Amino acid sequence: MSQLEYERLHHNLKFLELMTFESILDNYLEVATNDGKSTIEVLDYLVAQEVQSKEARSLDLRMSLAGFPVEKRLDDFDFKFQPSIDKASIKDLASLKFIHNAENVVFLGPPGVGKTHLAIALGIEAANAGFRVNFVMLVERLADAEKEKKLEDKIRRLSKFQLLVIDEIGYLPFDELGAHCFFQLISRRYERGSIIFTSNKSYGEWGEIFKDHVIAAAILDRVLHHCTTVNIKGDSYRLKDRKKQGLIPQNFSG
Ligand SMILES: Nc1ncnc2c1ncn2[C@@H]1O[C@H](COP(=O)(O)OP(=O)(O)OP(=O)(O)O)[C@@H](O)[C@H]1O
Ligand SMILES: [Mg+2]
Repeated sequence: MSQLEYERLHHNLKFLELMTFESILDNYLEVATNDGKSTIEVLDYLVAQEVQSKEARSLDLRMSLAGFPVEKRLDDFDFKFQPSIDKASIKDLASLKFIHNAENVVFLGPPGVGKTHLAIALGIEAANAGFRVNFVMLVERLADAEKEKKLEDKIRRLSKFQLLVIDEIGYLPFDELGAHCFFQLISRRYERGSIIFTSNKSYGEWGEIFKDHVIAAAILDRVLHHCTTVNIKGDSYRLKDRKKQGLIPQNFSG
């Protein structure tokens, strides 16, 4: 290869933004020549390395767009500690069929039983599989957007995600405007995109969260039409170690 060809190859690889290919080319060609690799083998290796780094970059981007507050993995979840959870049904959710089918998942249960952990873990599985995911921070912000006449924009932006994770429904009640905005979000995603919810309130108590029972019923009707509910009954994992140390009575479940 002449110097001109060599420089043109490097220049063109950069122009095509094949940066990994470009950066490993010289070293790999030397190794490949010594090992007697064929042209096809060389090209296959270099292209595979480029694809791998591109995949890693897009996963990084999806993870940062997802905005998970912490990273929680399914592998780190101790199913023995929480026997009310059917491990097989979580494995089934991890196949992500529910996202293909635009279905929802709801984790219900008292504090510390792993609702947010499982919701984030499924979100990470989805991001790994190439889905666009968003952990929705402060749904109440929808009401601010509505006041600024930007609710449509905000809902449209959220609709680009194939999976939303909406954590902690029920810790703070929605005011009338908040409930109206939340309903808009749910009805726009109905049968079009998946949502994973977590809540410390049973469905029967959702009326109190939204204050308006008619809106609560309309929201639940849409959420539950295609939905897997995981009802977790058990002890808080947060209290596990403190119980062991005897700082909290063994029968305390809070
Ligand atoms: N079975 C488990 N195995 C491993 N870690 C767990 C398990 N359950 C909960 N945890 C951990 O305990 C902490 C509390 O769990 P998590 O935040 O998921 O609870 P939660 O049900 O969402 O509670 P809250 O209603 O208070 O938000 C987290 O650090 C989580 O990773
Ligand atoms: Mg939580």
